[in-house]
Parts: sequence; structure tokens; C-alpha cells
Amino acid sequence: MNALDHLWARGCDFLGTKTAIMGGAMSWVSERHLVSAISNAGGFGVIACGSMNPALLDAEISATKALTGKPFGVNLITMHPQLLELIEVCIRHEIGHVVLAGGVPSGAAVRAVRDSGAKLVCFAPALVLAKRLIKSGADALVIEGSEAGGHIGPVSLTVLAQEILPVIREVPVFVAGGIGRGEAILAFLEMGASGVQLGTRFAAATESIAHEKFKAAFVRANARDAVPSVQLDALFPVIPVRGLANEGTRNFLAHQAATLKRFQSGELTKEAAQLSIEHFWAGALRRAVIDGDVEQGSVMAGQSVGMVTAIQPVAAIIAELIGQAEAAHAARQAQVPRTDARSHAA
Ligand SMILES: Cc1cc2nc3c(=O)[nH]c(=O)nc-3n(C[C@H](O)[C@H](O)[C@H](O)COP(=O)(O)O)c2cc1C
Repeated sequence: MNALDHLWARGCDFLGTKTAIMGGAMSWVSERHLVSAISNAGGFGVIACGSMNPALLDAEISATKALTGKPFGVNLITMHPQLLELIEVCIRHEIGHVVLAGGVPSGAAVRAVRDSGAKLVCFAPALVLAKRLIKSGADALVIEGSEAGGHIGPVSLTVLAQEILPVIREVPVFVAGGIGRGEAILAFLEMGASGVQLGTRFAAATESIAHEKFKAAFVRANARDAVPSVQLDALFPVIPVRGLANEGTRNFLAHQAATLKRFQSGELTKEAAQLSIEHFWAGALRRAVIDGDVEQGSVMAGQSVGMVTAIQPVAAIIAELIGQAEAAHAARQAQVPRTDARSHAA
């Protein structure tokens, strides 16, 4: 057994995989091809249901099953109006792990997943919520730092990991956000994580169906290019989403300014103004991922985008991460005897 096998044994056991590397669900990106590639490479692929209806999810799960016999999960957004029907689809397909994202899940959703025998994975954005989620039935937690791509919370993984990993031992905890190399994976496992979740690096994988221009933007970008969406005025909240700065993000600021003016002049009610701001990005992730409009679309990406330097097959990404983690561990081990030797000599 090598060091990693030992460090992430709990995570592998929970997921039923060879490595405790989860492919974070990414709307439009995490579909049958990427999900099956991650699972076939020894990781744990997760389908992003996003706004799919039950029939579409049903078809996506069937198609993924046709491409892999390995375990994979399904990520559902808690505010989806058909959440319970989507859970039923997962149950019919005997999906082993359901991830509920986008807020604290309702008791009904938690019960529906758990009664089916599937394992429930929830996102914990703070220690108090982590404890509450475990009490209400979560079998594992993901803690996702603000370095991540997509919708983000306010706290970095560095801090969340220190707050949560030393305290939560009841369930496996997977860490996400900003992870691009194996050295970081090793460090979080040593801090007590059971596994990791990566999104950005897999979005640019060969098997990802994201448009060539989307992947090329990832290869070009530096960490500093992946920025959270900016809220112009306290009156009109903007849900922070991390993505690559482009014409779309600049236009969003101009749109907020114009909408604010229309509200101040009495042309728009507060509700209408808020809706107009929320609707600005409707369909924008699809435009970037599928149509390749990386200028006007929403190019969601984590700060780890700076570590995407090429379009690689999923298996190569996973092998690279493991190689880096193992090399870092070996280097540390090699230092231990020298320190011991010195202290014996003294
Ligand atoms: C393009 C993109 C779309 C995403 N969509 C979702 C989503 O639909 N649901 C979700 O729970 N997380 C979503 N995420 C977050 C990922 O699942 C994952 O937690 C995150 O990417 C991890 O951080 P990293 O990008 O630094 O690896 C998305 C991330 C990206 C980059």
C-alpha cells in the first residue's frame, strides 16, 4: 500500500473508487463523456443535472452507464422545482451517491435520498452548517473554497479546511477549490481530508465536450484572470460566480449601472430591476461551454485555471496529480531520516 492509498482510504471506500478524486459537477460540462472518463480513470465522475428535467437526467444517466461500469454520482441543485422527481430518477437508476448543491437541502429531499439507500453528499460552507448537515443525514461533505470556479462562498479553502477538517470526523470530508496539483492534494489529505474535488482541470480535459475555444481560454488564462462577479450596489445583490474576466463581465457592470439608473428614475420597480440583473447571465454558461462564445458567455473557471497548461486526457490528469502527490510524499519521507540522523548524532 502506498502513502496515498492509506491517506485517502476512507474517501475511496466511501466512493467505491481507486482514487478519492471527485470530478466536481459542472453544468453543461459534466455530462456522460467527462463523467465516464473520470470514473473509468479511477476517479469519481459526477453528472451535473443543472436545469435538466427528469427525462433529460434519465437519458444522461443511461448514457453514462453505457460508457462506464464504475461508480459515478449525480449532482442536483436544491432549488430545482422538480428536485424530488429528479431524486426519483436517481433512485430508479440505483445511483449510489447523490450530491445536493446550492443550499441546505429540505428534510424531504434528505429523506428521499437516504431512504433509497443512496449516500448523500452535501456542501458545507461553514463549520456550524457542517454539523447541522451531518445531524440531518449527510453521509459526506464537500467543503469548497472561494478559489473554485462557478458559484462561490466567501471563504477560501485554506481557511475552511482549518476550521472544518480538525473538527469533523464523523463523515468523510472532500475539499474543493483551487486544487490543480498533487502536492496540494497530499497536503489536504494530511490535514484530514478524505479526498478532493476538482472542476477546472477536468473542464479542459480532452474528453470534456466544452467547445475548443472554451478550453483554449483555460489554457491561456492565469489564476488572476478567474475573478468573482462584481456587485455594483448594495441594493441589488449579485450571487458571486467565479469565471474568466471578459467582455461579458465588463458588460455586466454596465448593465447593473444602467439598471440602477432606471430604478432611481422610477422607470423600473425594485423587483423588476433585480430580475433584470439576475437575467443578464441567463443561458450564458451554455453559450460559452457549448457555442464557444468566450467573450460574451460566462466562462466559469477556478483560480486553478492557471495550472491548466494543456488539453490532456482525464487519465493523464489523474496520473499527473497522483505522481506529484507521491513525489511530494517521498521527498518528505526522505527528509525524515536525515533529521532523525542529525538528532541522534547530537
Ligand atoms: C464551468 C463550471 C461549472 C460549474 N457548475 C457547477 C454546478 O452546476 N454545480 C455545482 O455544484 N458546482 C459547479 N461547479 C463547481 C465544481 O463542481 C467544483 O466544485 C469546482 O470547480 C472546484 O474548484 P476548481 O474549479 O478550482 O477545481 C462548476 C465549476 C465550473 C468551473
